[in-house]
Order: sequence, then C-alpha cells, then structure tokens
Amino acid sequence: MVQEGKILYYGIGSGRWQSRCILEKFATVPWVVQIPDGWANCDTDWFAQRAQPPLFTHSSLRLSLQADPGSMEIIKRRWAELTDQDPDQPELLSELLLNGALIKNASGCVLFSSRHARHIRSNAALLERLEARRTAIETLLREQQQPIGRS
Ligand SMILES: NC(=O)c1ccc[n+]([C@@H]2O[C@H](COP(=O)([O-])OP(=O)(O)OC[C@H]3O[C@@H](n4cnc5c(N)ncnc54)[C@H](OP(=O)(O)O)[C@@H]3O)[C@@H](O)[C@H]2O)c1
Repeated sequence: MVQEGKILYYGIGSGRWQSRCILEKFATVPWVVQIPDGWANCDTDWFAQRAQPPLFTHSSLRLSLQADPGSMEIIKRRWAELTDQDPDQPELLSELLLNGALIKNASGCVLFSSRHARHIRSNAALLERLEARRTAIETLLREQQQPIGRS
C-alpha cells in the first residue's frame, strides 16, 4: 500500500507473539511498533532491536498486577530489601514496575494510563529517580529471568 501510494506510514499495535510473527515474516519494518510489556516479559530487547525506534511499550502496571499478585508481593519485598524502602509504601510497586519498563525499553516510550493526578505526578517523577534505582531494578530483572533453581 505504501508502494501504491495509498498510505504514507503504518504501524503495528498487537500482542507480543503476533507482533513477533509479523516482524519475523516481513522484511520491511513498520514505522511504529507498540507491544504490551509486563514485568515477566524478558525479550523486550528483541523488539527494540528489530523495530524502528522508538518502540512503544504499554500495560506494564496492569499486566503485572493482574497476572500474578502473589509473585508481585514477593518481588515487592525483595525490591524493598534492595532499596531500603518500606515494602508497604503504596506507590512502591508502581515505581518498581514502571522503572523496570523504562529500563527494558531504554530508547523507547513507556505508556501508562491513570485517572488520578497524583499517580500521573508520581509516575512522571520516577524518571528523576531512575538512575538511583537502576542497580536494584537490574538485579531484580536478572533474578526474574533466572530464578533460583532454574538452570
Ligand atoms: N495498542 C494496544 O494494543 C494497546 C493496548 C492496551 C493499552 N494501550 C495503551 O497503553 C496505555 C496504558 O495501558 P493500560 O491502561 O492498559 O495499562 P497501565 O498503564 O499499565 O495500567 C493502568 C492502571 O494502572 C493504575 N496506575 C497508574 N499509575 C499508578 C500508580 N502510580 N499507582 C497505582 N496505580 C497506578 C491505573 O489506575 P489509576 O487510574 O487509579 O491511576 C490503571 O488502573 C493505554 O492508555 C493505551 O494508550 C495500547
């Protein structure tokens, strides 16, 4: 359609598996790629390398919180150990999840949605604390990829 002059630009906004199939199948790279990116997704690099920058990732909060609240509780406590933060601080989990998404998609854009001004303010302020938290988050992301007992 681009060659026929019918469209100028196109992008894909779909699931990870579907997006991966499209990117593997077609030689031309879409102008925009947007995928969901939960905490447990370990192959975000693959998309960042394959898509044109910026890669858009979304739903980092919703996916992780809905998928497995039990394991999120364990990750939250480990994060509190690594950063000396209070594990019961209300914004702790969103801070961890959004910072993790920002680290995984460093050259791209991380989308979130919120209906609350205080959440939007605290999420935006995370960028200022990202460097201070980087080592702890990278440790947790590594642990997530290679849990104890898995070879
Ligand atoms: N192209 C696609 O296929 C596609 C699909 C899905 C989404 N998207 C895009 O991605 C954006 C984000 O996706 P999403 O809304 O599904 O997921 P999300 O941003 O990961 O999660 C949104 C939820 O997180 C909560 N939240 C945000 N900040 C918080 C904080 N600081 N503390 C506690 N809770 C917090 C929000 O509640 P509150 O309102 O209470 O803050 C809301 O319930 C969407 O708006 C959309 O533009 C695109």
